[in-house]
Amino acid sequence: AIECDRMLREPICCILGHVDAGKTKLLDCIRHTNVQKGEAGGITQQIGATYIPVEYIKERAKPREGIVIKVPGLLVIDTPGHESFSNMRSRGLSLCDIAVVVVDIMHGLEKQTVESLALLKDRNVRFIVVLNKVDRLSGWKHCPDAPIKKALENQSGDVKREFEWRLTKVVTQLMENGFNTALYYDNHKFRKVFDIVPTSAISGEGIPDLLLMLVLRSQATMVEKLTFVNTVECTVLEVNDDKDLGTNIDVVLINGVLHKGDQVNVCTKQGPVTTTIRDLLTPHPLKELRVKGIYKHHKELKAAQGVKIVAWGLKYAIPGTPLFVLKPGDDLGQSEAKSQRN
Ligand code: GTP
Ligand code: NA
Ligand code: MG
Repeated sequence: AIECDRMLREPICCILGHVDAGKTKLLDCIRHTNVQKGEAGGITQQIGATYIPVEYIKERAKPREGIVIKVPGLLVIDTPGHESFSNMRSRGLSLCDIAVVVVDIMHGLEKQTVESLALLKDRNVRFIVVLNKVDRLSGWKHCPDAPIKKALENQSGDVKREFEWRLTKVVTQLMENGFNTALYYDNHKFRKVFDIVPTSAISGEGIPDLLLMLVLRSQATMVEKLTFVNTVECTVLEVNDDKDLGTNIDVVLINGVLHKGDQVNVCTKQGPVTTTIRDLLTPHPLKELRVKGIYKHHKELKAAQGVKIVAWGLKYAIPGTPLFVLKPGDDLGQSEAKSQRN
């Protein structure tokens, strides 16, 4: 098969890590948004989704000449790190292609980092370790948005030594959890050894590297998985009650195409419900799905995307369950949800 003839969809990337490691802030830095500031107590309590178009990745990552980006973008899933939200972490993980494990360089591996690593191993999901908050190394000289290698070269001997020492500590801890890891630019065996990308979510060092690595590792190791197919694969993330839109669900469209007017089947606490998609919305690119904002209306949407679906009968939809699209002639099984008008 000729690789470039394949139609690839966006890799879905799930961000995991201990509470306050900087997962949301990292996304804020990528998106140029302020989602983290608006969170109650600075704690994420919902799964989020953000679409990052390939043009934007190229602009931020500035890939060397000759590097070919084959995927049309990234869909990034933010998860909460607080211990009580392990269900959301496993939900995020179960629909992703690749993960990012965020580690606070000053703290090393923490409880939910270890929990996430166990889940990743269990489900055999490829991941990149982000070693975040490098700006907290004492004496760090800010190099806003610089590639991390360049930023490190700019530091004093003391900062370099502290960095090496903390990096080695994390590499050892990861080894103790069963993973071989290396700084991504020293990693010549990326099929066996996992990458580490140091970053600062405050000043942006390492962000270009992270975006590029996510794209390159995905397209190098999972072409089959990322090949677009017409069969809809879709998972419910959250149920929302919106003053303007009414009850709606946030879903991740993993594969296939959704249309306005499609008949869909959703699992609810009251059993399966068949309903019609009345409206198909997405936030604008680089905006968080879970933050109320201005939505784009669509007649149809192609995977991968974070989507808001407006339809009757979704009030008791169960997060984490799949949504199915019915084709003409499919047995409806359950009465049309229109009559229920929650
Ligand atoms: P939960 O979603 O609640 O698990 O936390 P999180 O992992 O999303 O971390 P969050 O983005 O909420 O950041 C936690 C705190 O760390 C905030 O005060 C951030 O400003 C701070 N922070 C995040 N990244 C960095 C960084 O790179 N450098 C510094 N100095 N602070 C950071
Ligand atoms: Na937080
Ligand atoms: Mg967060």
